[in-house]
Amino acid sequence: MAETTDLSGRVALVTGAGSGIGRQAAETLAGAGAAVACTDINLAGAQETAASIEAAGGRAIAIAHDVVEEDQWEAAVKATVDALGGLHIMVNNAGIELVKTIPDISTADFRRVMDINVLGVFLGIKTCTDAMTASGSGSIINLSSVAGLIGAPRQAAYCASKGAVRLMTKATALELAGAGHPIRVNSVHPGIIETPMLEDLMTGVPDEQRNQRLAQMKARHPIGRLGQATDIANAILFLASDLSSFMTGSEVVVDGGMTAN
Ligand SMILES: NC(=O)c1ccc[n+]([C@@H]2O[C@H](COP(=O)([O-])OP(=O)(O)OC[C@H]3O[C@@H](n4cnc5c(N)ncnc54)[C@H](O)[C@@H]3O)[C@@H](O)[C@H]2O)c1
Repeated sequence: MAETTDLSGRVALVTGAGSGIGRQAAETLAGAGAAVACTDINLAGAQETAASIEAAGGRAIAIAHDVVEEDQWEAAVKATVDALGGLHIMVNNAGIELVKTIPDISTADFRRVMDINVLGVFLGIKTCTDAMTASGSGSIINLSSVAGLIGAPRQAAYCASKGAVRLMTKATALELAGAGHPIRVNSVHPGIIETPMLEDLMTGVPDEQRNQRLAQMKARHPIGRLGQATDIANAILFLASDLSSFMTGSEVVVDGGMTAN
């Protein structure tokens, strides 16, 4: 039978599923037939996503989950397997941005970005391996960024974290495949995507300056527009499905051409 994006019978866990890319990824995976555990430090957001999946006829649960806490990871994976019957797809999406000059980045700032964006992804990979192996197959999708491929001023901590996700993806892909686990690990590298994260960066910026900044951001994408959460969710769907069964340790760039030159 030809491979498709049909995910019937599969179970996914999406972190940071209460907003932006994570919410759209959860809805897209559910639309393809997966049962989805929507986890977020913001439980109300995760609950809204799960409710919208159920309203569309899908199956979802919501879990309060801080990705920095190992015991919360263990509880989230257990709750997913208990409620939905297994675990096949993990989207390590939860992340934070930090835009500050070098002198303004405190040690606490730097550690917080690395904790959520890097340690959070590592704990996700570490915690889901046994459940995925027991479920018969696994696809782990880690959200990196174009900031994991190229540098940017005022983003030293964020770029460090997203670069780490890129190579952690490759290292874990090799280790899991080498140890005979039926688990693939790939990273996704979005350009600038219109989500609440982008809105947060514009908080308090006067309209004129905001429009100017948005135009500058748009101009960095040769395709001529900013990305949408659906652009990234579609790549996540591809990596989650059997269509990508020969891909592991890969980096999928979804950036409107930003890093092509
Ligand atoms: N928006 C962009 O332009 C863009 C570009 C490249 C990469 N990304 C990456 O995509 C991912 C999603 O970004 P987004 O734009 O949807 O952001 P967002 O801010 O809209 O959503 C992030 C979600 O993560 C959750 N979260 C934050 N800290 C958490 C923690 N400790 N534990 C669990 N959940 C936590 C938040 O509550 C929120 O629901 C991030 O990893 C981000 O770095 C975003």
